[in-house]
Amino acid sequence: MAKRILFATSEVYPLIKTGGLADVSAGLPRALQAAGHEVRVILPAYGDVIDNLEQAYSVGRFKVGDAEVELIETILPGSDVITWLVSNKKAFARSGNPYMNDDGNPWVDNAERFHLFDKAVVELAQGRAGPSWKPDLVHCNDWQTGLIPALLSLEPVRPATVFTIHNLAYQGLFDFETFQQLDLPDVFWHHETLEYFGQMSFMKGGLIYADQLTTVSPGYAEEIQTPEFGCGLDGLLGSRSDSLTGIVNGIDMVEWNPARDKHLVQVYGKLNLKQKLVNKTELCREFALPVDTGMPLIGMVGRLVNQKGIDLVLEELDQIVSIPAQLVILGSGESKYENRLREAVKSHSDRISVYIGYDEGLAHRIEAGADIFLMPSRFEPCGLNQMYSLRYGTIPVVHSIGGLADTVVTATPENIQSGIATGVTFYELDAEEMYAAIRHAVALYKNKAIWKQIQLAAMRQDFSWSKSAAEYSKLYYRAKDDAVMEVG
Ligand code: ADP
Ligand code: GLC
Repeated sequence: MAKRILFATSEVYPLIKTGGLADVSAGLPRALQAAGHEVRVILPAYGDVIDNLEQAYSVGRFKVGDAEVELIETILPGSDVITWLVSNKKAFARSGNPYMNDDGNPWVDNAERFHLFDKAVVELAQGRAGPSWKPDLVHCNDWQTGLIPALLSLEPVRPATVFTIHNLAYQGLFDFETFQQLDLPDVFWHHETLEYFGQMSFMKGGLIYADQLTTVSPGYAEEIQTPEFGCGLDGLLGSRSDSLTGIVNGIDMVEWNPARDKHLVQVYGKLNLKQKLVNKTELCREFALPVDTGMPLIGMVGRLVNQKGIDLVLEELDQIVSIPAQLVILGSGESKYENRLREAVKSHSDRISVYIGYDEGLAHRIEAGADIFLMPSRFEPCGLNQMYSLRYGTIPVVHSIGGLADTVVTATPENIQSGIATGVTFYELDAEEMYAAIRHAVALYKNKAIWKQIQLAAMRQDFSWSKSAAEYSKLYYRAKDDAVMEVG
């Protein structure tokens, strides 16, 4: 039976995006709707979102505590999914990054902002905020929505709740004073509720109170139950393992399609793979690198933070360029990494080029133009770029972890022999191991027949959202049963 699902998230592509969560929040609701569910996406009405909306209507005003909230309705571009924006000028009408200011520091009022958003979602979910539409289930994502399951647990009758962990490393931790300012019930200040080593954790609200928990790959679902990857929450997650499911993300097969990609100078597919080379040449030009089509070109796109293992790449740069190989990197993040990359370009200007910033089109052109795509992540809940790479016949070299291990089939002789190899993985998080994996990929690249076979196997993978959406559908029924049991 179809369900009414309220999908709560802090970012949605193309309205606002800082990372993979935005892609998931656009792809999954669309696929759920295509599977017959009735979905509403809800997110805060950030300044930049409101300024860029083409069509939007006010569909209600209501009070959340002392704050006035306006609900704005639009349609998620490129879909028929109704999207609600929770508008409150003080909390959300500011431009820039949704979570931090231009100096890279979290907005000082983040706790109040997302508390307000979460309370607004609860009011809507309970049918107390205007629209007559009431969900059967609220699907929450990451810490910004963690208070929703917690607050709903206080209601005698409520919709079911699912909480998806996209990244356990960001938990939404705030001090006790902030907890008091939010005026949350005392029951939430306890180590078995929201308290986490003397702080308040938004994330724990989701982990403890949601009927069902998911994370974005089976591998990461296992890993977060261990001290190494559990960020101090492994015990709690272990205790909920019966309610924790790993479901690999899908990708938008239309947006990320080398045969139709509007960002490319030359589209290509499995039948005319040679055309991919035009994109390589153009990419070198765009990055002001000398064009040498015989030399492997390695691409990277992502947030320049510890999670992504960029330090390993910095450590091995001299070796990588002397393979020889060229390297193009698109990213932004911590300034120490940005600066070290800028420095590296100075000493290897014919081999390395870096674009510090955010550029959606360039991300597509790197996926298409590079031969090899590098992701040495320390941990990776799912990762989307390796799936984009596979689809573009750009062979991923990845640390075997989380979603990377679940989506890339490593090129052992047996896997090559049986035609299932799609990439190269390394097992120890170590710069030399990563370098050895790159060397392995380059050796394969030199063997044209094998390389093409790996590229074609990669391009045949089906990462469409419909498969993952079917798994979420099953889970929604389980969550509903849990909720019914709880409310008697
Ligand atoms: P995460 O969510 O941890 O950042 P994912 O691999 O799930 O990692 O998703 C990252 C998404 O953000 C991808 O769609 C990727 O292309 C995009 N992205 C990351 N950094 C940039 C950038 N500097 N420019 C353009 N796109 C970027
Ligand atoms: C997080 C993770 C990433 C995942 C994305 C979408 O940001 O770091 O691995 O792909 O969420 O689920």
